[in-house]
Amino acid sequence: MDSNSKKSIANMSTEEYLNAIIDLSEEIVHDFKNTLATISGISQLTSYQQVPNEVKENMELIKEAALEGREQIDRFYQFIRGYNVDIYRYEAFSNIVFTCLDLINHKISKLEGEGIILSLNILSMSEVYCNEYKMRQAILNILINAIDAMEETGGVLELNLFDKSDTIILEIMDTGIGIPEENLDKIFEANYTTKGKKGTGLGLKVSRTVIEKCGGRIDVKSNLGKGTIFTIYLPIKIVERWIYPDIINW
Ligand SMILES: Nc1ncnc2c1ncn2[C@@H]1O[C@H](COP(=O)(O)OP(=O)(O)O)[C@@H](O)[C@H]1O
Ligand SMILES: [Mg+2]
Repeated sequence: MDSNSKKSIANMSTEEYLNAIIDLSEEIVHDFKNTLATISGISQLTSYQQVPNEVKENMELIKEAALEGREQIDRFYQFIRGYNVDIYRYEAFSNIVFTCLDLINHKISKLEGEGIILSLNILSMSEVYCNEYKMRQAILNILINAIDAMEETGGVLELNLFDKSDTIILEIMDTGIGIPEENLDKIFEANYTTKGKKGTGLGLKVSRTVIEKCGGRIDVKSNLGKGTIFTIYLPIKIVERWIYPDIINW
């Protein structure tokens, strides 16, 4: 597509605009990595050449700086990868969970000092067909709610990820304030929040929509004053296995 046929920014929806920025960032990351590879490659060559030690030392510094730059750009790439809201593909669900934990790490570690313990049991490597960015949002909403619920009480945030036949199951448990039984139906409704101005009441609605769009479901159980458990069920990728011919009956 040449630049004339590209839509002008003013005519783009937020989603299109976001995708355009992500596409551009991916191109820049790619080109920048090549530039850094050239710099580190050439500076490495010098170590095999007959040059004064001082030059070698300087070249070594250039190589290290280029490799450091590569690590930084890789981190940036990890952040934007999967951001494209149109892309659906098979993703290792455990990776998405780990990325979410990375993204809220500062919140957990801050609260850990005040009495929140993270308990992780990741027992599945199965893949799920989803948009990585949206699924991340769906899980983050639930994790942040769990942390909010333990803000005053402290406690344990427990994540269990495992397979049960063709379904992957993620349990997110907290030992926070809990939800009164009469409100359990309302929490997935838009605009329902008990957090006043701090809340939007949209988090769980978004989470449920994303999960259902991927063929899954979410349910919740709660015990007032004791804690809450959200359970996400998603269909996993069926791996086709090659069936070997029966060589015994030749
Ligand atoms: N883990 C939890 N423990 C206690 N209450 C919760 C929990 N998760 C959700 N809730 C309740 O559900 C409501 C709706 O959640 P959500 O849709 O994420 O909106 P928000 O977080 O903006 O209030 C929250 O305001 C809270 O009352
Ligand atoms: Mg929320």
